[in-house]
Amino acid sequence: MSNENPFGPSPKALATIKKYKNNIHCYPSWIPETLKEKCAIYNNVSPHNISVSAGSYELINLITSFFVGEDEEIITFDNTFMAYNYSAKRNGRKCTIVKMSGPHYDLNDLVPLCNKKTKAIFFANPNNPTGTFINHLSLRKLLISIPNNIFVISDEAYIEYVTDGSYPNSVELQKEFPNLIILRTFSKIYGLAGIRIGYGIASKDVVEKLDQVRLLRSVNALAEKAGEAAIEDVDYVNLSAKHNAIERDKLFTELTELGFNVVPSQANFLYIPFNNNHDKDKVVQALAEQGLIVCDLTIFGHDKSIRISIGTQDANLRVIDCLSKIN
Ligand SMILES: Cc1ncc(COP(=O)(O)O)c(C=O)c1O
Repeated sequence: MSNENPFGPSPKALATIKKYKNNIHCYPSWIPETLKEKCAIYNNVSPHNISVSAGSYELINLITSFFVGEDEEIITFDNTFMAYNYSAKRNGRKCTIVKMSGPHYDLNDLVPLCNKKTKAIFFANPNNPTGTFINHLSLRKLLISIPNNIFVISDEAYIEYVTDGSYPNSVELQKEFPNLIILRTFSKIYGLAGIRIGYGIASKDVVEKLDQVRLLRSVNALAEKAGEAAIEDVDYVNLSAKHNAIERDKLFTELTELGFNVVPSQANFLYIPFNNNHDKDKVVQALAEQGLIVCDLTIFGHDKSIRISIGTQDANLRVIDCLSKIN
């Protein structure tokens, strides 16, 4: 339901956790240098450009509280990951919300809202919950259009599931635009959501600042070791991504054929807007009666829509079977 990997944790990470568990009486490193280096190699950047964190939430919170001053502002979208707005609120920062007219971001709506106080723009790419994405040209255009003192935070929690070739090469863009901060997580395809591990790719200057303000040893020893093993678990990532792409296509086609208004997705979930809450509730309830839990987006303030995570082949078949009987 929270878009976790239906196959569980990366086997390499799990084996490492089991092996390392007898050492948890020892403190983790001050800075997880080995994991930093592995993330750097994986992304073809310098370790100076990597900030390892206790999941993306930690980086979102650090950026909001330390990079955005008390009288400065954040901009995000209304139908994106709620953590950006929540983090702004918790830290007492003003957050301007761009209203999306459909499931896609329109970056042209965002640029005129930037003012002297704007310090950070947050979005998820691909977006949660809609699964839509910003392509390379649009992201580059945004970075050219706005002043370079505004941080652009591209949260790429679902990047491993992307199959569209026009998705941004954000690491290259980051080299060109030092105000771009990329967020990555081990919570999704690597299956490590419970252990809290992620990282940011940013300019050396931004990384130094993030590492200074981070709670010392916020990344626990098991998370550090699990991350080191997971990033090398290429087979597991490939297998999970392939399964997702095949099942995402199948589920999309079958749900569309059943008459649902499914939005094409680049993530590991599908977004379905309904005409009214009655139709949505009927679907949520029918699935729940079969033990199939989907995310009713009313809890995030968006009524009339749901998000279905791509599950195992069996779970997806059960979704189709259930919905073919009510439509
Ligand atoms: C867009 C996006 N970013 C970040 C996260 C959470 O990342 P983490 O578990 O690394 O804090 C999620 C989880 O749902 C998400 O959808």
